[in-house]
Amino acid sequence: MKDAAPQTVYLRDYNPFGWRIEDVSLTFKLAPEATRVTSRIRFAPNPDAPAQDFFLHGEDVTLLRASIDGAEVTPEITPQGLRCAVPDGAFTWEAEVEIAPASNTALEGLYMSGGMYCTQCEAEGFRKITYYPDRPDVMATFTVRIESDMPVLLSNGNPAGSGDGWAEWHDPWPKPAYLFALVAGDLRNHPDRFTTRSGRDVELNIWVRPGDEGKCAWGMEALKKSMTWDEDVYGREYDLDVFNIVAVDDFNMGAMENKGLNIFNSAAVLASPETATDANFERIESIIAHEYFHNWTGNRITCRDWFQLCLKEGLTVFRDQQFTSDLRSAAVKRIEDVAQLRARQFPEDQGPLSHPVRPESFQEINNFYTATVYEKGAEVIGMLKRLVGDEAYAKALDLYFDRHDGDAATIEDWLQVFEDATGRDLSQFKRWYSQAGTPRLSIHEDWQDGTYTLTFTQVTKPTPGQPDKAPQVIPIAVGLLSPNGDEVVPTRMLEMTEGRQSFAFEGLSARPVPSILRGFSAPVVLDREVPAEERAFLLAHDTDPFNRWESSRSLAREALLAMIRDGAAPDLAWIDALGRVLRDDTLDPAFRALMLGLPSQSELAQVLHEKGATPDPDAIYVATEAMADALAQRFEPMLDALAEQARVDAPYAPDAEQSGKRALGGAALALRSRLDGGEAAQAQFEAADNMTLQLSALTCLIRAGAADLALGVFHDQWQDDRLVMDKWFGLQVAAAGPAEAAAVAERLTRHPAFDWKNPNRFRAVLGALAMNHAGFHRKDGAGYRLLADWLIKLDPLNPQTTARMCSAFQTWWRYDSDRQALMKAELERIAARDGLSRDTAEMIGRILS
Ligand code: PHE
Ligand code: ZN
Repeated sequence: MKDAAPQTVYLRDYNPFGWRIEDVSLTFKLAPEATRVTSRIRFAPNPDAPAQDFFLHGEDVTLLRASIDGAEVTPEITPQGLRCAVPDGAFTWEAEVEIAPASNTALEGLYMSGGMYCTQCEAEGFRKITYYPDRPDVMATFTVRIESDMPVLLSNGNPAGSGDGWAEWHDPWPKPAYLFALVAGDLRNHPDRFTTRSGRDVELNIWVRPGDEGKCAWGMEALKKSMTWDEDVYGREYDLDVFNIVAVDDFNMGAMENKGLNIFNSAAVLASPETATDANFERIESIIAHEYFHNWTGNRITCRDWFQLCLKEGLTVFRDQQFTSDLRSAAVKRIEDVAQLRARQFPEDQGPLSHPVRPESFQEINNFYTATVYEKGAEVIGMLKRLVGDEAYAKALDLYFDRHDGDAATIEDWLQVFEDATGRDLSQFKRWYSQAGTPRLSIHEDWQDGTYTLTFTQVTKPTPGQPDKAPQVIPIAVGLLSPNGDEVVPTRMLEMTEGRQSFAFEGLSARPVPSILRGFSAPVVLDREVPAEERAFLLAHDTDPFNRWESSRSLAREALLAMIRDGAAPDLAWIDALGRVLRDDTLDPAFRALMLGLPSQSELAQVLHEKGATPDPDAIYVATEAMADALAQRFEPMLDALAEQARVDAPYAPDAEQSGKRALGGAALALRSRLDGGEAAQAQFEAADNMTLQLSALTCLIRAGAADLALGVFHDQWQDDRLVMDKWFGLQVAAAGPAEAAAVAERLTRHPAFDWKNPNRFRAVLGALAMNHAGFHRKDGAGYRLLADWLIKLDPLNPQTTARMCSAFQTWWRYDSDRQALMKAELERIAARDGLSRDTAEMIGRILS
């Protein structure tokens, strides 16, 4: 167990470690209850470090013996590690420890999943394997020997020999301990090869449990595409002779970029047309790319300390987003990413968990793998690229790789590279890394004698620990349309640096209509009351696809707010404008499908709160349903045509074109099911030969209250497939109405296949409940209670997943006082548990603060 007294770590306290490591050699004798780990580490004094005690991290490890230069030593052991007297010069440390992977339920360090051994060391898991300076700025080459009777034995780097019951691996690239990995199991591989552009022949493998071999092909294609893309776009080649990917069923996150040995949550790599949806395929492609891209942005250049997490994560998310836009549709990808940012990062940034992209303190670093560090971190890089331009961005990145290869770097290093490559002063831009909160932009327009002037004012509300905010650099992409719909000023990047600032466009013959923040050029909120006619005009004429979508979204939002607050009827003017877009078959089906999506209920709750109203989840649900019914009725005459345009005759492929069609078909089917009681959905369910069609039909059937039969059929068909069964569990909760969601979730937690220790299964049920807005916020608190019961149960076993799921409560402050009291009571009930993990304690403390 972790130490109970919470300790806060501060960025400003950074000090280098007192020693460097020449090399590390590890031997693992694997056994489920008693694995022996021997380490041999050559230390030499670090001349750049202040004097300090020799301290090695170590948690939940039993030290059996230790020696320095061959002479036995008796270190002082604490719950966090050990301290030992050491010689003045260089020395060799040797130790043997014992650990118990089979009883490691936290899935951090060395643990077992489905009979195989695997590791997860980021951020601070290596200290659960052996005593070591477990910090990213200590980099070393590793040689690893594994002794086990498991048939497949893997570690980082290149194979260095193997025999009966043993294998050795050597990783020539110095790396921090968080990138260490080891896998041992009865695994099957899906092999392939890749030749890098300089001629290195690389062996590629995806390793899976027997039975999953047929679900590897897509991941392998994605890997090869990623390797090619990183060569073409960033000039980065792979640097080992093998690249291994392993799928494991029990994993807290999506995947992990361990050097040469990526470990994936099986949900993030395994796919076949029958078992995975188009959305799964797209996500797998992007996660494979993300982990592969880390080889340069994360591994070759790593982070000096965990405060710099966004250095690798923001940049790598940005790179995987670029990759997906290049392979698929840039417009669709941008809309999806912004929708995600608003759904996940904005609530974080606008509530008690708000923190800078580079936090300045933490208690448990695992709590900072957040949407802010990842997604806002990526937005910050996008802004930087917009400000300096594509060419300068490429030049800066080349300089970054040249200058910092092999380093543990900081955000200061990163920005310095851009300053040196462009001559720009980025000191103000740096506020994006240090200042939390979402800036709000308000806009004033002026039209006089052919000159159109836009005046922007930026305001960022106080966030925890940051009462006063300074103006940020905001790139605002603006284009102007003439009243007849032609673009008179193409996209121009305005660079706002002051709290209030004007930009003039001269020589116009008529007052233009502005298209502001095109492509969502900065992660801000636009506070602008736009007349509905102007939005409808932009919806029809804007050349920027993102803003076209945004106009429709805003109209939908306004219409829904009017329904919720004033009992207004659905806005037919907007519905008809949307109808014209849907009928336009020159537009990408995927784009049209996105246009049909309504703002989420959680987003509506946020907007209501901002407008001074108290959001009522039931009223929001009712209005959203009424709006969807209105769309269905109004669009009924064209549903057949849409379904026809969505038809795919070619064999199934999860590419952008087919996926877009199926997305449009799914949206049309959802509307159809509101009119026919699920008849068309039942037919699609029965005919479906791929999971996308099967699942979209099942969703419609649940919503139509006509799924009793289909759910049983689906269950019997897929009961042996873990990943598909996660969908079966999750969908029932996600699609349940507000009155039933908590009861459905509760019933599913009693299902024999509800293996709650598996994070995917736990999230399928409880995570889906937290996402079912009206169901989770049921007035009697049943949703809150059920989630809290299960978080209490999971915390002693798996603190990381528990703590992350506490964020379901982060928006408590938006709601009425009854709901607030219920949510706080549940948070306090969790917080009062004896032996609560440091992870969960920190999260609840912050949420309640
Ligand atoms: N570094 C991993 C990724 O982005 C995420 C991760 C963090 C996985 C911590 C496991 C533990 O890509
Ligand atoms: Zn990452």
